[in-house]
Amino acid sequence: MDIFLIALITTTTLTSANADPLAPALYVLGDSLLDSGNNNFFPTVARANFAPYGMNFDGSRATGRFTNGRTVADFIAEFIGLPYAPPYMSIKRLVESEQVMTGLNFASGSCGILPQTGSDLGKCLNFPEQVDLFERTVKEDLPRYYKTSQELSNYLAKSLFLISIGSNDYINNYLISHYDTGKRYSPQSFATLLVNNLSQQLQRLYELGARKMTVFEIGPIGCIPSITRQIKHNGPCVEDINQMTILFNNELAPMLLNLTSTLQHSSFILGRVNWLGYDAAITPSKYGLSDSSNPCCVTWMNGTSGCVPGLGALACKQPDKQYFFDAYHLTETLYKHIATLCFNTSSVCIPQNISDLLLS
Ligand SMILES: *[C@@H]1O[C@H](CO)[C@@H](O)[C@H](O)[C@H]1NC(C)=O
Ligand SMILES: *[C@@H]1O[C@H](CO)[C@@H](O)[C@H](O)[C@H]1NC(C)=O
Ligand SMILES: *[C@@H]1O[C@H](CO)[C@@H](O)[C@H](O)[C@H]1NC(C)=O
Ligand SMILES: *[C@@H]1O[C@H](CO)[C@@H](O)[C@H](O)[C@H]1NC(C)=O
Ligand SMILES: *[C@@H]1O[C@H](CO)[C@@H](O)[C@H](O)[C@H]1NC(C)=O
Repeated sequence: MDIFLIALITTTTLTSANADPLAPALYVLGDSLLDSGNNNFFPTVARANFAPYGMNFDGSRATGRFTNGRTVADFIAEFIGLPYAPPYMSIKRLVESEQVMTGLNFASGSCGILPQTGSDLGKCLNFPEQVDLFERTVKEDLPRYYKTSQELSNYLAKSLFLISIGSNDYINNYLISHYDTGKRYSPQSFATLLVNNLSQQLQRLYELGARKMTVFEIGPIGCIPSITRQIKHNGPCVEDINQMTILFNNELAPMLLNLTSTLQHSSFILGRVNWLGYDAAITPSKYGLSDSSNPCCVTWMNGTSGCVPGLGALACKQPDKQYFFDAYHLTETLYKHIATLCFNTSSVCIPQNISDLLLS
């Protein structure tokens, strides 16, 4: 049996994939917040294909997701009625059948918008490379499933694109002393550089046929354990670093508005996760959490890394009460809040929630 078909069947049985989904496909691009296993295929230390990652996924199964359970993309797939988007790298060859594609995940842990980001940790797919792979999918693979280019355009226009990228351009680049970006750019000019580069890639996605895109802000990375445990600060978070993410997000919002107004029939939705992530870090009890400063799993270097393989049994017993799963990534609980609020309310995704976006 073809590898793609196997992936499709296993993911379908996992979710309540629906006969009548709200969108024909879900395409996912970004970093470890959304990676569903692409990094398993690369030589890199940025991997999550071992316990306790996945301890609450499909019973208990490490897939390469950097969390204990489902990601935001998985929840959104469930809400739409689609199978979880399989990692692009897990698909060797697309089957020749009438099977309609229900989406792919190109996201890759440790990577960012800039090509040099994350290079210390090993191989990953940076954002322009992910768009290259999507381009290959559109030009070489998808045409097999559609009789006319009009049908293919319709399919792409109705599909949902989820994008979360940029945190690592700070964590694995700007904030690391041996990269020169921290010396060459002010926080403001670096934010502008990133957002301009991102804008270029989003326009490529549009030119390839994407119309409904949700782009998430960078979260408050000044609150993650790997930062708070290494940099002196007052209060729960390192506010100088949160301020850098706000500079980025303040450029992201008008950039998306501009694209929506200049690119015909496009909707670039902003996923406002920064305030939500900060609110949950400051007042965890509001979100049913009892701990918003410590990783759930055992990490190297006093709580500042990913999880240590082989020590899965020592992970916290109630990950649903924790904010952080390792020193960088959130638990499924937070991802579920983000996905639910973005899908169904006006508090996270603007100017439309995903439910309204897919009906429009
Ligand atoms: C993208 O980033 C590079 C630096 O890596 C910069 O030289 C280039 O001008 C940027 N492109 C845009 C459109 O901002
Ligand atoms: C708005 O988007 C257009 C088309 O992509 C671009 O040419 C223009 O420079 C952008 N304007 C601003 C203010 O960002
Ligand atoms: C380890 O981290 C804890 C919690 O942040 C801190 O109180 C402690 O001083 C750290 N120990 C070392 C050796 O850095
Ligand atoms: C968002 O989604 C819900 C349910 O799908 C809908 O009732 C609501 O009106 C939507 N729009 C806003 C702006 O909240
Ligand atoms: C969204 O809201 C609708 C209507 O209020 C509800 O039926 C649905 O279960 C909600 N979906 C999610 C994911 O919360």
